[in-house]
Amino acid sequence: MAASAPYEKLGVVNTKEMFRKAMAGKYAIPAYNFNNMEQLQAIVTGCVQSGSPVILQVSGSARKYADGVMMPYMVEGAVAMARKMGSNIPIALHLDHGNTFELAKDCIDSGFSSVMIDGSHHSFEENIRLTAEVVEYAHTKGVTVEGELGVLAGVEDEVSAEVSHYTQPEEVEEFVSRTGADSLAISIGTSHGAHKFKLKPGQKPPTLRFDILEEIEKLLPGYPIVLHGASSVSPEHVAMINQFGGNLESAVGIPAEQLRRAAQSAVCKINIDSDGRLAMTAIIRKIFTEDPTEFDPRKYLGPARDELITLIKDKNTNVLGSASRA
Ligand code: G3H
Ligand code: 13P
Ligand code: ZN
Repeated sequence: MAASAPYEKLGVVNTKEMFRKAMAGKYAIPAYNFNNMEQLQAIVTGCVQSGSPVILQVSGSARKYADGVMMPYMVEGAVAMARKMGSNIPIALHLDHGNTFELAKDCIDSGFSSVMIDGSHHSFEENIRLTAEVVEYAHTKGVTVEGELGVLAGVEDEVSAEVSHYTQPEEVEEFVSRTGADSLAISIGTSHGAHKFKLKPGQKPPTLRFDILEEIEKLLPGYPIVLHGASSVSPEHVAMINQFGGNLESAVGIPAEQLRRAAQSAVCKINIDSDGRLAMTAIIRKIFTEDPTEFDPRKYLGPARDELITLIKDKNTNVLGSASRA
């Protein structure tokens, strides 16, 4: 890896050391998605207050939304805020579901310390070619790379899949050795969004395919695995959204105990986006319903930010086990 990396000027780190410690300590690093200031403040504050390392995660469309030029400054500011709070937690800036070499390169050059190249919708050979191309460039800049094998159902940025395809364990060794990827996202039954399973009344969500995860762990001992689509979809937030004019019937996520189990395995990174969106939406809907005269964004975005801080501290402490590990 190179001595000087573009991301160093932002005060962020790559995921290498984070994952090494998470693997040894049997916990997972939280990767929280954001696209605006309030989310970013909440993620950093929640992780500082719980003493957790954190991966700040940005999809291609989130980067476009916040503006690619503005994004590194936002993160530099968020790191400065954490340090002002007296905290030295490790913070990584990660591209989520990068789909082209050009996007990954642009992110690396602008200060991302980690990138995902998601070639899971391509053939095995094309996935390897694309991932290896990104790894080759990323490693010259000290940036870590996440690849993906297997397809998750739901929307992954501009790519969406109707059904999931579980990762085939027999492919993982070849993929990792031929690409040089630093971590691997796998498909074991999670999916993106707030409707992960179609359940009949009273039915519980199915158990993730821990057998596939265990097989992969045996084939790649000590290698960091990533779990996408890992929101739990809080019934309280869903109920609040529905109570205050929303319509999120039958939204359901991954039970916390299954994520706790995953965090103790080779899963070193757990991705959470939908839970944060639901928390903020629930609070904003409540405030708008209870006071239709309110129009100061600070009066609804502020409480929404507080709710997200509470959620993040709870996840780090009670689900991922990353609290007090920074
Ligand atoms: O995996 C998808 C993430 O939740 C990002 O979603 O593309 O709507 O920003 P987004
Ligand atoms: P959720 O939709 O379950 O929060 O998953 C987010 C994710 O995997 C981002 O890459
Ligand atoms: Zn994802």
